[in-house]
Order: sequence, then structure tokens, then C-alpha cells
Amino acid sequence: MGLERLLLASFIAMSIFPCMLLPLADSEQVFPEADAPAAESSDELWLRSGPPPRVVDVDDYGAGSNGCDDTEAFLAAWSEACNSSDYRPMLLVPEGKSYLLMPVTFRGPCRATSITTMIMGTLEAPSNRSIWQDQNLQEWITFEDIDRLHVLGGGTLNGNGQEWWVNSCKLNRSMRCVTGPTALYFRRCTHLVVEDLEVRDSMQMHVAFAYSWNVLVSKLFITAPGWSPNTDGIHVSNSKQVSISECTISTGDDCISIVTGSTFVRVTGIFCGPGHGISIGSLGANNSWAHVSDVLVEKATLLGTTNGVRIKTWQVMHALLGCPYQWHGNLDGSLFFLEKGCSEKE
Ligand SMILES: *[C@@H]1O[C@H](CO)[C@@H](O)[C@H](O)[C@H]1NC(C)=O
Ligand SMILES: *[C@@H]1O[C@H](CO)[C@@H](O)[C@H](O)[C@H]1NC(C)=O
Ligand SMILES: *[C@@H]1O[C@H](CO)[C@@H](O)[C@H](O)[C@H]1NC(C)=O
Ligand SMILES: *[C@@H]1O[C@H](CO)[C@@H](O)[C@H](O)[C@H]1NC(C)=O
Repeated sequence: MGLERLLLASFIAMSIFPCMLLPLADSEQVFPEADAPAAESSDELWLRSGPPPRVVDVDDYGAGSNGCDDTEAFLAAWSEACNSSDYRPMLLVPEGKSYLLMPVTFRGPCRATSITTMIMGTLEAPSNRSIWQDQNLQEWITFEDIDRLHVLGGGTLNGNGQEWWVNSCKLNRSMRCVTGPTALYFRRCTHLVVEDLEVRDSMQMHVAFAYSWNVLVSKLFITAPGWSPNTDGIHVSNSKQVSISECTISTGDDCISIVTGSTFVRVTGIFCGPGHGISIGSLGANNSWAHVSDVLVEKATLLGTTNGVRIKTWQVMHALLGCPYQWHGNLDGSLFFLEKGCSEKE
């Protein structure tokens, strides 16, 4: 097995504020259910009585017909679904087809009370990096300012990130360091459900949540080669009440990373590996203030990861020297130690 190791955790709870680890006795303390109404699951959505949702099929807007850029067709279909007078319209990406999408943002707020994006087919990102670099873009598919959005369907998002990886300064020191796009980005979404999707080979991070609240993430299959640089699986920032469950994450960086502004993040039933494990941080770069609290990781399997669960913080005085200090810990919370982490990227 070489460096591979198998770590099984039934329970770990952490709270850091300020810069402290407090094992908590039970999850009820951390996640008072009454105060944390969950977004409805897709099962409830489908089982709910009433008329079927209005379906807006991207193919009806000209997508998927010629193997060319489908972005405009998707945006037209989104506009129709988002502003539909139906109270729960569905944007449909049909099964068995591939669609080429340029960097695109699906914006709310929507007139519809809730909106479902049913991705059954495959979405392909352009492999040409200049499409992002020419416009200084850092995301591929973004959902923004939407309440009660469900994204699901069993389909695939393929970031085709190979060109980004081989030109990374992590792999070739003579290359310039650039930030690559995140494949699937959610910004300021509330009552969000993301489930049953495959996200593969992102340019950098795979799925990110920012400034979002009440988020349920489950059954995601996230994969990229173990050597692909900076390809975090799921990244959470400035978000609260985020539940991540039953996901399989195999990438070249953190399976899950949780950074400042995040609170009440529950991670359960995760398979992680290869990858760098589950990380809080890094926090406090450039003397900044950072706060992460009430993070619960339970029933995680980490196989062939470089770390288990860790907290990465920057030392104030020497932040500019570029070495974050890292907390390393056993998954049962029995041992934590601090180490200067220059050996590895954050
Ligand atoms: C929905 O309609 C409003 C008002 O006409 C418009 O400003 C907004 O851009 C529309 N949203 C989408 C996604 O088309
Ligand atoms: C990438 O796109 C740029 C323009 O955006 C173009 O000049 C270049 O030829 C493309 N490269 C490849 C490999 O297609
Ligand atoms: C690193 O990048 C330089 C400059 O683009 C290139 O000449 C060199 O072949 C690359 N090295 C490797 C190992 O890919
Ligand atoms: C810290 O600040 C410097 C200078 O403004 C900047 O170049 C660097 O990217 C920052 N580091 C981080 C980790 O934000």
C-alpha cells in the first residue's frame, strides 16, 4: 500500500474560535435542528402533489444540435424557466447528449418560487485556456442570487482541465502561477440542493459554495487525477448551514476545504482519496481575520490521502514568508499538533 493509509472515523467534531479546538459531546449541540430548517430534498419535490412542473428543454432553444457552442441556448432557456410564472419550473438538459458550454452565469432572482435544473446529459467545458484568460474569468458554470434552486439529474460536468494542469506552476516551476476556474460555482444561493451529479477533471476547484445559506449537497461523484494541481473537490466559503453527504471525491487537492465565514458545516458519509484530505483553511493569510466554527465531520473514509482532517492557519508575523502553520490531527480527535507547512501547497 506504500504511503496509502486507511482512516475510518465515526465521529469528529471541531470548533475553532478563537484558534481553539473544542471536542463537542454530541451533534445536537452543534446543529440544533429546530434552528436549522433543511432545504427540501428532491424526493419531497417529486412526491409533492400538484400539477407537474413546466419543463423548459434546452434542446428547444437550439442546444445540442450541431456540436457547437450551446451557451446562448442555455441562457435563453434559463431566462424562460427563471422568469416563468409556473411556481416550480424545470430547466432540462436531456440525457444521452453532450453540450459545449463557455463560461456562463445563470442569474436570479427568479420569478418562480423554486427552480430545478435537471442535468441528465453531459456538459463539456472548452479546453482552450485563453477563453478564460482573455476575459480574466475564474468560473465555468455559475449559479448566482437564486432562492430554492435544485441542481440534480445524474449527468456529468466535464471541466476538461488537462491543459490547465500541465501548464501549472506547481508541476513546472518555469510556468507563471495563475488561478484556474472553478467548474461549478454557487454564489449567494439560499435553500440550495445539489445532488446526484458527476463533476470531473475541473481546471481547478470542482464545486464551490460562497455566501450561501441552507445548502444540501449529496451524492456527488467528483474525480480528477491525483496529480492534478489545486483540484479541490468541494470548497465552502462564507456560507452557513451546509450539509455535505454521501459524496465520493478523488482529486489532486483537498477533498473538502472550508474557509473563512463558514459556520455549521456538516460533512457525513464521505469517501475521500486520493487527495489532501478534509481541510479547514487556510485561514488568516496576510494578517486577515478569519472565523470558521461548528464543523462536523463524521463517517468519513479517507484512503490514500496526504492528510486526514486538518486546520491550516497563517502565522501573523511571518505570513509573508509564505509558510502556513498547519494543525494535523487524528480523526478521533486524540492528537493534534502544529507544523510549519512549507512542504506542500495549501
Ligand atoms: C427576469 O425578468 C426581469 C424583469 O424583466 C429581468 O430583469 C431579468 O433579467 C430576467 N431574468 C432572467 C434570468 O432572464
Ligand atoms: C484558443 O483560443 C484563442 C482565441 O480565444 C485562439 O487564438 C487559439 O488559437 C485557440 N487555441 C487553440 C489550441 O484552439
Ligand atoms: C516547463 O515549461 C517550459 C516553458 O514552457 C518548457 O519549455 C518545459 O518543457 C516544461 N517542462 C516540463 C517538464 O514540462
Ligand atoms: C497577500 O498579499 C500579497 C500582497 O498584496 C498578495 O500578493 C498575496 O497574494 C496575498 N496572499 C494571499 C494568500 O492572499
